[in-house]
Amino acid sequence: MREFEPRSIIEPFRIRSVEPIRFSTTAERRTALEAAGWNPFRLHSDTVLIDLLTDSGTGAMSSQQWAGMISSDESYAGSPSFYRFEAAVQDITGLRHVIPTHQGRAAEHILFSTIAKPGDFVLSNTLFDTTRAHVEHAGAEGRDLPIRASLDPRDPHPFKGNLDVEALERTIIELGATRIPLVLLTVTNNSGGGQPVSLANAREVAAVCRRHGIRLFLDACRFAENAWFVRTREAGQETRSPIEIARDFFALADGCTMSAKKDGMANIGGFLAVNDDALAARCRNLEILTEGFPTYGGMAGYDLEAIARGLYEALDENYLRYRIRSIAYLGDKLLAAGVPIIEPTGGHAVYIDARALLPQVPALSYPAWSLNNALYLAGGVRGVEIGSVMFGRQPDGSERPAAKELVRLAFPRRVYTQSHVDYVAEVILHVAAERQTLGGYRIVEEAPFLRHFTARFEPFAS
Ligand code: F0G
Repeated sequence: MREFEPRSIIEPFRIRSVEPIRFSTTAERRTALEAAGWNPFRLHSDTVLIDLLTDSGTGAMSSQQWAGMISSDESYAGSPSFYRFEAAVQDITGLRHVIPTHQGRAAEHILFSTIAKPGDFVLSNTLFDTTRAHVEHAGAEGRDLPIRASLDPRDPHPFKGNLDVEALERTIIELGATRIPLVLLTVTNNSGGGQPVSLANAREVAAVCRRHGIRLFLDACRFAENAWFVRTREAGQETRSPIEIARDFFALADGCTMSAKKDGMANIGGFLAVNDDALAARCRNLEILTEGFPTYGGMAGYDLEAIARGLYEALDENYLRYRIRSIAYLGDKLLAAGVPIIEPTGGHAVYIDARALLPQVPALSYPAWSLNNALYLAGGVRGVEIGSVMFGRQPDGSERPAAKELVRLAFPRRVYTQSHVDYVAEVILHVAAERQTLGGYRIVEEAPFLRHFTARFEPFAS
């Protein structure tokens, strides 16, 4: 008999504990969305059938993680759970000082409050919005320098998360290295479509930083997904394990911030890790003030145990193959049906190009908001708008169309199966076929900052 070579990429887990999904009718969803001011953030999540709002903190934990949680140690100081967590982070990142935080943005807060000041600049492939907010909170300014290919949704470049090295060099010379406390590489680049950074690019960026005496940090939230893309897309990397590739990235960096709610496979948690002793001491002082004692930093002992195991599980080859494949599977179905998305599909999410799909809806009538609401109304699928509602309001109070109008469908880790993904594709294709019937929205109530979370809307027509 010939050796069996499977083509199906199956979920690399069995399910032993299940959580019911609540089904609803279109009429029920319409009532719920109207009561929520046509804002999916305001929905009660038990009215959502497939929740793709975020991949952050929404994953399923393994039996090994739960076992660790049950046997955790909740000592205030010096818990063995902390030392297991610290050892895992040190083993994977090679970074000396591990500072636990309750989530990623807390690590950003500590880092940027400690090293950035008014007049400084933080350069990046693309800063995530909480990261930018913390840079600005410290009085500094963030500058995104993504490669040109990342601006075109259709460009098939395999590493659209890369930082433009020439622009980096130019910007450092223009601003002066002393005003740049660090360069931050976001792997994968969430705001740019979940696109990976190549190891070659990270090496070039590190070399430029070293030459100018500027620190290089990673925003490592999705470091394992990035490692998988490097293995499958970068020449010479195909036989290497994800952990080896991840270690190469961290070895280039002076530190990292991490939201363990992503590739830490945990529901909460994060860390800041650095090599510099003096910087670590200053960060720990602030941590005690804002997060807690340095051996728990805003987490319970059981969270530390969950992350200590989750970081390795995120690097498992079978898991990563399934993870990246399941997102590409949805992307391929949409592309085959002519639905415009950011190509190639990203690591944790599919991003639908609402500007291209709903040309009849002007940017300031929020096409991506309209599309996202239509997915919910049609099939109970909740994504998130990344467009003019999220980015349109300017600091001077005016409103401007965002660069892109996207609906992000982010997949929680190990939560949904292939039939759920088939269902999501069916909902999207149905809405795409009905796209002529979709109209825009106007905002009737909004907060001065981050308005997308709480604003209330009214549809113009539907
Ligand atoms: N950096 C990146 C690249 C992120 O995607 C996030 C969170 C953070 C930092 C902040 O981490 O939420 O633990 O404080 N992204 C989530 C998302 C919220 O839906 O993309 P956090």
